[in-house]
Amino acid sequence: SWQYSLRPRRLVEYIGQDQVKNNLSIFVQAALARNEALDHVLLYGPPGLGKTTLAGIIANELGVSFRITSGPAIERPGDLASLLTNLGEKDVLFIDEIHRLSRAVEEVLYSAMEDYALDIIIGKGPSARSIRLDLPKFTLVGATTKAGALAAPLRDRFGVICRLEYYETEHLECIVNRAAEILKVDIEPRGALEIARRSRGTPRIANRLLKRVRDFAQVTSDGIITDTIADKALALLEVDKRGLDKTDRSMLTAIIKKFNGGPVGLDTLAASISEETETIEDVYEPFLLQMGFIARTPRGRVATPAAYSHLNILYKDKADTQE
Ligand code: ADE
Repeated sequence: SWQYSLRPRRLVEYIGQDQVKNNLSIFVQAALARNEALDHVLLYGPPGLGKTTLAGIIANELGVSFRITSGPAIERPGDLASLLTNLGEKDVLFIDEIHRLSRAVEEVLYSAMEDYALDIIIGKGPSARSIRLDLPKFTLVGATTKAGALAAPLRDRFGVICRLEYYETEHLECIVNRAAEILKVDIEPRGALEIARRSRGTPRIANRLLKRVRDFAQVTSDGIITDTIADKALALLEVDKRGLDKTDRSMLTAIIKKFNGGPVGLDTLAASISEETETIEDVYEPFLLQMGFIARTPRGRVATPAAYSHLNILYKDKADTQE
């Protein structure tokens, strides 16, 4: 599918995240030179920044098979056992949303990661006994949006921990241009810049907006993505000049109008705009924090003067109005 072809397969094709990329490149080369499995890798950061892509690249660079699963998909210890016992030597097992593993599964994972062994209990009661099953050496690549949600014993078993950051506009421009080439879309440099600027620092969003702007260019004009076409299409998609979508704006508006600028707790805020707390926490809050539109205080989130200004609402400093 197009997703597959848009997705880079080698480290040299992967744009941005330079520090992560350079470090991983060294660790992969070292593991290859020693003919060992790469140490377990934890990738964390907001959704859409390429954690799954990087995990696949790691497997490719190591020349091993890539197995994908997720925290919620591994329901029982037995599910994990069957995944692990079916791995080949030095393979990469990718567990997305690893913070959502159950405690029982997590416990089994510890010895698997540390000793490449599974401790399985056979039987019940006084006759129960534990047997140890050897596993192939493997690399676990875990991904999570919140490293803080990982149990410490699990986090401590990752030898490599990489934090993915929102992408710079210039990197997103390169990603949009690369995707346009693969999709055979005509795009002007200023069209790519416009999409890059409005993609919330996120390649997944950049690629999605590119496809929607392409539809617009194709139907309403000559198919070429110019900055004017991009601007018109993005306005229709309700993505504003800084890349905020409807939910971002309703979140800021709620803090300002319903909660007098804050502070307001995340649950209260989420309920007030009919969104899931988890989505607000993983997707919207990190971006708005990064943009400087909200700030965290011990009593909840507040809208910053920049948020008022972006929404064209007059900012009144509460300190000035206090008696
Ligand atoms: N497509 C999505 N993310 C990418 C990245 N980081 N580099 C290249 N192409 C991408």
